[in-house]
Amino acid sequence: MEATANPEPHSSAPLTWAARWEDFMNKIILASLALALSSSVAFADTIKVGIIGPFSGPFALQGKSFQAGIEAFFDLNGNTVGDDTIEVVYRDVPEANPAQTAALAQELVINEGVQYLGGFYFTPDAMAAAPILEEANVPMVVFNAATSTIVEASPLVVRTSFTQWQLSYPMAAVAHERGIEKVITVVSDYGPGIDAETAFKAGFEAEGGAVVESIRMPMTTNDFSPIMQRVRDSGANAVFAFLPSGPPTLGFVQAYNENGLKDAGVQLLAPGDLTQESDLPALGEPAVGMLTTFHYAVSHDSPENAAFVEAAYKHLNPGELNFPAVGAFDGMYVISKMIEATGGNQDAAAAVEAVKGLSWTSPRGPVSIDPETRHMTQNVYLREVAKAEDGTFINKEIQTFENMGDPGLEQAN
Ligand code: PHB
Repeated sequence: MEATANPEPHSSAPLTWAARWEDFMNKIILASLALALSSSVAFADTIKVGIIGPFSGPFALQGKSFQAGIEAFFDLNGNTVGDDTIEVVYRDVPEANPAQTAALAQELVINEGVQYLGGFYFTPDAMAAAPILEEANVPMVVFNAATSTIVEASPLVVRTSFTQWQLSYPMAAVAHERGIEKVITVVSDYGPGIDAETAFKAGFEAEGGAVVESIRMPMTTNDFSPIMQRVRDSGANAVFAFLPSGPPTLGFVQAYNENGLKDAGVQLLAPGDLTQESDLPALGEPAVGMLTTFHYAVSHDSPENAAFVEAAYKHLNPGELNFPAVGAFDGMYVISKMIEATGGNQDAAAAVEAVKGLSWTSPRGPVSIDPETRHMTQNVYLREVAKAEDGTFINKEIQTFENMGDPGLEQAN
């Protein structure tokens, strides 16, 4: 694109100092404008994507999976879309921290000139960045955060992960089918935990089951023995639990095992956050038989997943691959489709519009972006922790709930 300037004014009269000064300043302004326009064209050749996630601290492995998913996407698809090259700029928010996330999202938009924001492991962080999107003309693709209402925080949010409603509602049907009548729920006291509790209760009571008690724990809880005592005292046949994947989930499942609840006949039911693959070696034999519902297992049997796992493992140590990687891989696919549809121009509304209804085969199975909710429609799998032939522990998929939307959003709308 070229800057068009008004033709030079012609005048036969000699110029006064004031007129010469004005002429000089006009030329400077025009030159700056031309430079700005030409550099914005040059900018469009490199599309910057800002990724916010936990890359250090207790949840660093989750951020590492984001990064491995992004790199796997580039390895398998390249990092160019048409004439444009995608450049990723990472920012680290080690634990849920809305204020830090909001500041970094601003910094990415203003200083780095990112055209897209992605990542977001924790719900409060995704919620904190959403208010700047419209003003900044930037879409946000949520790779993990799982509270249903995040997509309602801005029309420019698209999500490639899962929601606790999507996972917990079918788990209620599984509990009922297996003859479980009384359940106690235990969740972290914030968005996805409350969604998980509400969804499970709604599903389980609709099946005729009873939730005998609901415990909400602060996110900082790390001594779970008193909770296990309350679970035992409740007389429930099963405990349904959600905590954000990472050290809290490992600690919770270990406490369940060590406090003898399995032997006491209390089944642990959970979304798959509680049995992420990197934790399975530490959980070991006592976790075998544990039932979870989830959108993705590293052991999912498909050619797309085999290629994805191989590519992701070029960027990880053995045993480190976890579900945030598939959210990131599919998130980059969605961003690449947005770039393609807008020809690299910065038009957030058009970018989001272009991916409504998009469907493809993900490493997790068939998926699509629901045009109404901008959330992922996908299969939810019932899995059982099992020992594979090679002696490793896996989340073995044993049943499929096909084409699940988000019952939370569907109920709200
Ligand atoms: C969330 O904060 O939304 C979240 C974090 C970790 C999970 C699931 C959801 O495993």
